Amino acid sequence: MKKIIVVGNGGSENAICYALKKSPQNPRIYNFATTVNPGIKKLGAEILLTDRLNNFEDLENFAGKIQPDLVIIGPENPIADGMSDFLKKIGIPCFAPSQKNVQLETSKSFTRNLLKKYEIDASPEFFVSEDAEDTKSREKFYQKFDGQIVVKADGLLGGKGVLVAGAHFDDFETAENFARKSIEKFGRVVLEEKLIGPEFSVISIVDGETVLDTQAIQDNKLAGIDDTGPQTGGMGTISDENWSLPFLDEKDLQKAREITVQTMQAIEKETGEKYVGVMYGGFIKTKNGVKLIEYNARFGDPEALNILPMMKTDFVEVCEKAVQGKLREISKLQFEPKATVLKYLCAKGYPQNPQKGAILDLPKNWDEEKAKVFFAGIKEEDGKYILNGGRAIAVLGIGKNLAEANENCEAKIREFPLEHLFYRSDIGTKELIEKRMKLVE
Ligand code: AMP
Ligand code: GLY
Repeated sequence: MKKIIVVGNGGSENAICYALKKSPQNPRIYNFATTVNPGIKKLGAEILLTDRLNNFEDLENFAGKIQPDLVIIGPENPIADGMSDFLKKIGIPCFAPSQKNVQLETSKSFTRNLLKKYEIDASPEFFVSEDAEDTKSREKFYQKFDGQIVVKADGLLGGKGVLVAGAHFDDFETAENFARKSIEKFGRVVLEEKLIGPEFSVISIVDGETVLDTQAIQDNKLAGIDDTGPQTGGMGTISDENWSLPFLDEKDLQKAREITVQTMQAIEKETGEKYVGVMYGGFIKTKNGVKLIEYNARFGDPEALNILPMMKTDFVEVCEKAVQGKLREISKLQFEPKATVLKYLCAKGYPQNPQKGAILDLPKNWDEEKAKVFFAGIKEEDGKYILNGGRAIAVLGIGKNLAEANENCEAKIREFPLEHLFYRSDIGTKELIEKRMKLVE
């Protein structure tokens, strides 16, 4: 029996374990985690507790005992700390990019400069600034776009690294303060022209030569109903039954794919290392075509939860072939032809000041045909489910179209006690989808 260690105990790792469990190879799943995720535990995984996910020593000790066939790293931080390179060095196959290649996610300037150098036409106008005292150049860029710019810190800030004009600032001073802080902390800041249009994500599994796409997903990042409130990690996501989204056509998906293929080839030329793992492209459909907002080096959260439970292709085989550089042997990933609507039930106060500690009485059934439940900010201790802050419980509705998927999601949510939780009921509704469609008109 194959043995697989999954690093991380959030929502996307719950989805990774779910997809592994569905594999006809029936692997033994181990979860390298800081808390017990009830969803991962219920799938029968053995939990390997550590104090932090980048504890290489603990992982090496566990791996020494288990002798895993594969390690899959979920979150970006251990990848950024070089966990993939470390595992490779000690002879353990690992599904995640190297430390050099993970710069695609961790450094906005690396990615923009890479696209520029290899003439990949997908970026807005941008300016990388390294001199904290050079306010003048930044002000010039700000004025060129009438203040309609985006300021990006050049390193990982856990979802707090991007300020968008109109949403987070209306004056140069606020943008400049953030820019200076980024230069002090990371040596650089990236200013970008603000792009307008609906956003979508395409998550691809790659081995340096072949790109296998999954279906397009739309995330909803703001905390409040009708796109109000602060930026979050993602309050909920939708995917349509036809792999696309109501505002996209085949040409848009083709363009997104081209950008990913070209970027995968470019990064190997740049770093000398093949990119193995996930390339999660965040795209935006503008009047001038599809542009790249960013790449992540991991399955998104919640995006992974729409995709992985619906995958019909053997996920163990997909990860193994990626690590072996043989993805070309799988011609296309297969999915259930269903629409999905996912809504996160979040701790009240999220994202600024999420409540923690409440004991939740949860419904028992987490895996039905019409709806599935996954966990993120919930830890299981002594058989109790404890709210651990942030995005807590993901409810995935599945249906023949978005309307049915939304109904199934809402029906499942009604089984949950919401005293300590809140969510965006508008995600997946016709009204919100129509509002997004208007962005392309
Ligand atoms: P990122 O971390 O790069 O994905 O940025 C977070 C969010 O900021 C994105 O999901 C977008 O909503 C927004 N954003 C980033 N870059 C741009 C841009 N150039 N134009 C418009 N919005 C952007
Ligand atoms: N949902 C966005 C992300 O995972 O970064």
